[in-house]
Amino acid sequence: MSKVFVFDHPLIQHKLTYIRDKSTGTKEFRELVDEVAGLMAFEITRDLPLKDVTVETPVGQAASKKIAGKKLGLVPILRAGLGMTDGILRMIPAARVGHVGLYRDPETLKPVEYYVKLPADVKEREFIVIDPMLATGGSAVEAINSLKKRGARSIKLMCLVAAPEGVEAVQEAHPDVDIFLAALDEKLNEKGYIVPGLGDAGDRLFGTK
Ligand code: PRP
Ligand code: URA
Repeated sequence: MSKVFVFDHPLIQHKLTYIRDKSTGTKEFRELVDEVAGLMAFEITRDLPLKDVTVETPVGQAASKKIAGKKLGLVPILRAGLGMTDGILRMIPAARVGHVGLYRDPETLKPVEYYVKLPADVKEREFIVIDPMLATGGSAVEAINSLKKRGARSIKLMCLVAAPEGVEAVQEAHPDVDIFLAALDEKLNEKGYIVPGLGDAGDRLFGTK
């Protein structure tokens, strides 16, 4: 069974409050999502393995550390995952970025895939799938299916806000994928929106409503 981590860092929680607030406009919303994604990247990379190195300082030799292990890949789920990508890349600038395009059919709430492009060396990378919202879980489950079908072996999922239904769906379909969140909310409403959530993440990020 995959693990679920809810980041309780005060900066993440503080900024998430403004993200949720319906009076926060597009510009500020976008900036805050970007900042929270960066802070979450800081937390999610806590267990990256390090290797010992020696570096020459102007004064002598320092026994130091560098990140070792597999290379990282970010996979934003289009569109809303794009809003988190730059914030994470600022923390992990060497990461490669793949894209999975999915939208949720408004009637059936089932994900419809329209685009996939991943780094060529998919088998050698550790992937972080990113999307602000984990609602029914259909989109995340499908995006992870898409990665696994193309050979990805190590995957984490990072979302801002999740509903219990979405967490359960991912855990059932992908018990090997740990889930990292800024908040686990109460439920879904009859339209499949997270309650209390933050509304439609794509529309709020890109000003399309
Ligand atoms: C939103 C969100 C997720 C999905 C979550 O995208 O960004 O991808 O819904 O819902 P689910 O867990 O029930 O699948 P949406 O389908 O609105 O597409 P968009 O990002 O293009 O607006
Ligand atoms: N997608 C969103 O953007 N918001 C929700 O609450 C659910 C799905």
